[in-house]
Amino acid sequence: MANSLYDFGMIGLGVMGRNLLLNMADHGFSVIGFDKDAAKTGALETAATAGTTVKGVAELAAMVQLLERPRKLMMLVPAGQPVDDVIASLLPLLEQGDVVIDGGNSHYTDTLRRVKQLRESGIHFMGIGVSGGEQGARTGPSIMPGGDEAAYAKVRPMLEAIAAKVKETPCVAYLGKEGAGHYVKMVHNGIEYAIMQLISESYTLLQKGAGLNNDQLHEIFKNWNQGALQSFLVEITADIFLQQDDKSDKRLVDVISDKAGSKGTGKWTSQDAMELPVAVPVIDTAVAMRTLSGYKEQREKAATLYTAPETTIHTETEQWTKQVHDALYFATILSYAQGLAMLHEASRDLQMDIPLPEVVKVWRGGCIIRSTLLEVFTQAYQQDAGLPNILLDKGVAYLVQSVVDNTRSVIAQAAQAGLPVAGFMSALSYFDAFRTGRMATNLIQAQRDYFGAHTYQRIDMPGTFHTEWQQH
Ligand code: 6PG
Repeated sequence: MANSLYDFGMIGLGVMGRNLLLNMADHGFSVIGFDKDAAKTGALETAATAGTTVKGVAELAAMVQLLERPRKLMMLVPAGQPVDDVIASLLPLLEQGDVVIDGGNSHYTDTLRRVKQLRESGIHFMGIGVSGGEQGARTGPSIMPGGDEAAYAKVRPMLEAIAAKVKETPCVAYLGKEGAGHYVKMVHNGIEYAIMQLISESYTLLQKGAGLNNDQLHEIFKNWNQGALQSFLVEITADIFLQQDDKSDKRLVDVISDKAGSKGTGKWTSQDAMELPVAVPVIDTAVAMRTLSGYKEQREKAATLYTAPETTIHTETEQWTKQVHDALYFATILSYAQGLAMLHEASRDLQMDIPLPEVVKVWRGGCIIRSTLLEVFTQAYQQDAGLPNILLDKGVAYLVQSVVDNTRSVIAQAAQAGLPVAGFMSALSYFDAFRTGRMATNLIQAQRDYFGAHTYQRIDMPGTFHTEWQQH
């Protein structure tokens, strides 16, 4: 190459690191990647598109030396200690003004700590959420940057080039101060957990409830993906039902164990929601159901102790499918609503200035939770950028209202049939509490004051009150 210095460096050439770097090279940037594993540096160079400038090295110092100044580099290594280890090895090699990006799923509090740590040496540290998996990284992920805005300006052309595009708009934008990028990615993952749980409940309702087979389930999800439920997760679900197992004559989905894994980002969302506090019960439920799925032996024992009710749904299949569609649509909107409400609160509470109108635009393409609904939310924020909860938007309210009756019907029948739909139930109960001007929590206040003199407020006069409650 004419200029012997490279535009961008990557530390960690696993699947995500390699694909992001190749994506950058495809957009005309010269890139260099470091990994101790020679097989990975070799794989990087081999996979490069002809005519692009891509180099792999096994020495961190060599990579840093070969970067254009101010250096722009990203690490994609497992969250936690590995990130701190990389920073410790990098620090002596860097100079003031260099930009270091953590593109992994780090906890935002770690990002905050690292921003401060590197700021002391004049180095810009940015936490950036990257979503879209392997394929997204190669062809266009959704990118959620946060931190120093001046540093973002330096890497913006590269990030815009590699991001997914929706109507020619790149799915990347500056999403707030300090740890905002990783915060937004954490909440993205919380919503991802919620929607995945809801889709799996829809599967139960159609498979166990209506006795549909994998071919029929494929057709249903394929149809759903052509309408209001169009989304990446519904799309891949349709594919999954058709996948043949290569070790048996069954469909793969039927031989996969029901113990669900997790790497913790869903749990972090719930934990942080409790801290704020903000209510995200569909996300909490999704995390809990993955946990419960791990209690396989206890569940198997319980299955011998308790008889299941009659599990057949009596509604005619076509109508049932339509009702389940509506319930999924309803609860999916509720999942986004809870996640976005959390970002609204966190933005204020943690002084991150997260622009929600930008967040929903960035999520429209490339990421795991991309869906046609994000267009609806984009319009809602165009009406009111400061919406505390998208359920308060008139357009969203109209959509929710149009599917809530079918949601009630699905949940009632699922309960009678003994089908577990905790995500749907949680979404509906949140909705019914949210849409009421007076909850039953006055009684909780009375109880608190009764046993602990915790005081209460009245609805008819200002002030704080305590009563000597009488035993009867
Ligand atoms: C993404 C995903 C990704 C996440 C996986 C696995 O946006 O590309 O959110 O970052 O790591 O979905 O998450 P769990 O193992 O916790 O399910």
